[in-house]
Amino acid sequence: MKSGWKGGVTSSAEETINLGKSLSKFIEAGDIITLEGDLAAGKTTFVKGILDGFNFDRQVTSPTFTLINEYEAQLRVIHMDCYRENDLQRWINLGIQDYFFSDDVKIIEWPEIISALIPKDHISITLKSVSEFERKIYIK
Ligand SMILES: Nc1ncnc2c1ncn2[C@@H]1O[C@H](COP(=O)(O)OP(=O)(O)OP(=O)(O)O)[C@@H](O)[C@H]1O
Ligand SMILES: [Mg+2]
Repeated sequence: MKSGWKGGVTSSAEETINLGKSLSKFIEAGDIITLEGDLAAGKTTFVKGILDGFNFDRQVTSPTFTLINEYEAQLRVIHMDCYRENDLQRWINLGIQDYFFSDDVKIIEWPEIISALIPKDHISITLKSVSEFERKIYIK
């Protein structure tokens, strides 16, 4: 990822989408981006913004149950959600290592669950609920 993205504080889902959109310009092929934050912190909303920034105009849904969603955007984006699957072997069987060594952009919600499998060289973004509508979103 190119350096220079600053993060920020948002006050609505729409603002979080716009902030995600602003991150797209910094993302490069192969990047692995982890999104940490509690339930409803806005991780999936932020991913919608990233895809928006890649001019992806179709629906983006949460991979809560599918575990992995793939989007053919300007760059291919692999969106994963580890919340419901803590069996590392299952992730390996799903081919997660192949994704990590590909040029696709990987974005991972609940990365702490599979941290043992994630290459060290990744970008870590945190989303913190400050109040009902405020979210602090920053890069570690
Ligand atoms: N500033 C904000 N940014 C993002 N979402 C917000 C904000 N304020 C309120 N919300 C609401 O919080 C919810 C965020 O949902 P979202 O699915 O993006 O969270 P998530 O972090 O992906 O949760 P999960 O861990 O369940 O996957 C939505 O209902 C959204 O409308
Ligand atoms: Mg989510």
